[in-house]
Amino acid sequence: MTEPLIDPFARTIEYLRVSVTDRCDFRCVYCMSENMTFLPKKELLTLEELDRMCSAFVRLGVRKLRITGGEPLVRRGIMTFFQSMSRHLESGALHELTLTTNGSQLEKYADDLFAAGVRRINISLDTLDEAKFAEITRWGRLPQVMRGIDAAQKAGLRVKINTVALKGFNEDELETLTDWCASRDMDLTFIEVMPMGDLGNEDRFGQYWSLEDLRARLAARSELTDLPEKTGGPARYVRVERTGQKIGFITPLSHNFCESCNRVRITCTGEIYTCLGQEGHSDLRAPLRASEADADLENAIRAAIALKPKGHDFDYSRQQVDGQVSRHMSHTGG
Ligand code: GTP
Ligand code: 5AD
Ligand code: SF4
Repeated sequence: MTEPLIDPFARTIEYLRVSVTDRCDFRCVYCMSENMTFLPKKELLTLEELDRMCSAFVRLGVRKLRITGGEPLVRRGIMTFFQSMSRHLESGALHELTLTTNGSQLEKYADDLFAAGVRRINISLDTLDEAKFAEITRWGRLPQVMRGIDAAQKAGLRVKINTVALKGFNEDELETLTDWCASRDMDLTFIEVMPMGDLGNEDRFGQYWSLEDLRARLAARSELTDLPEKTGGPARYVRVERTGQKIGFITPLSHNFCESCNRVRITCTGEIYTCLGQEGHSDLRAPLRASEADADLENAIRAAIALKPKGHDFDYSRQQVDGQVSRHMSHTGG
């Protein structure tokens, strides 16, 4: 029997997030600069290497695999990767195969994703207003994403919407967004804007909209019931009694879940980050490319997990960020 992956703080690693590309067809202002430069292709893990890497993690006990980016569905050939991963679902080793997407390519791929065994997906959407959507994503077009969401639901995929809460941008849409998700039977999670990527001209502190405030506004409209804390994830959930819908809050800055963290992430270049809020990482691409032997890769993975830190230290409250992370979310995969 293979020993499970257990880190130095006795946390079992069962959840792997993999960024399959740093590229994206949008340029969300809190994520990328307009003239983002992307990595040369040879730096990226090939689809075969991604397969080998993910399969090694599955052998080591990973039960949930989330594919991210950048925008994962702009990676050429990505459907063959999903199809290949479905063998781990069929064998029962993997319990969930899922992805986080901006929705732009879903019209094309929703049915194929369902056929590969994907059942739930997370779609990022910060506004329901076409002009504001074009402003925040710079290159994105809302109708295309709406068609993607329709296609996903039609294909049978359960959809969760992720909305980054931005002061002065979508504060006025809180009610519209929640009601829209309720009417379409979609879960909704609000995310605090995180100090990652190019901070350049962006005023991330000024954009910071506390989810406490957001929650209080929701509570003024309907009774909210706290749902039991789901272990391992960043979101805390409430049920909105008026509509019965579930709403999540991801507040890495005011509430971290480090004690029960069960996840690690692989970048599109094969580095492993064992904590989203820390710069520390190890390279898995070199061991992957150096040897055909699965045991060597597994050993490299175990060595990296042994370095997983206890937690992170983002902190907006002091108007400074101890753990300022200059790397992009699109590289690490969020
Ligand atoms: P589940 O797999 O259902 O828990 O989904 P999720 O909400 O974690 O995944 P998703 O890709 O939708 O991520 C939503 C937001 O949560 C993104 O902004 C992520 O960056 C953030 N997030 C994901 N993992 C972590 C983490 O380990 N730590 C922190 N602080 N935030 C995270
Ligand atoms: N802060 C918070 N969320 C971010 N995302 C990307 N960059 C940031 C940031 N700086 C979100 C996207 C998507 C998720 C994967 O990460 O909107 O919902
Ligand atoms: Fe693309 Fe997502 Fe970054 Fe927006 S937040 S630019 S959709 S990777």
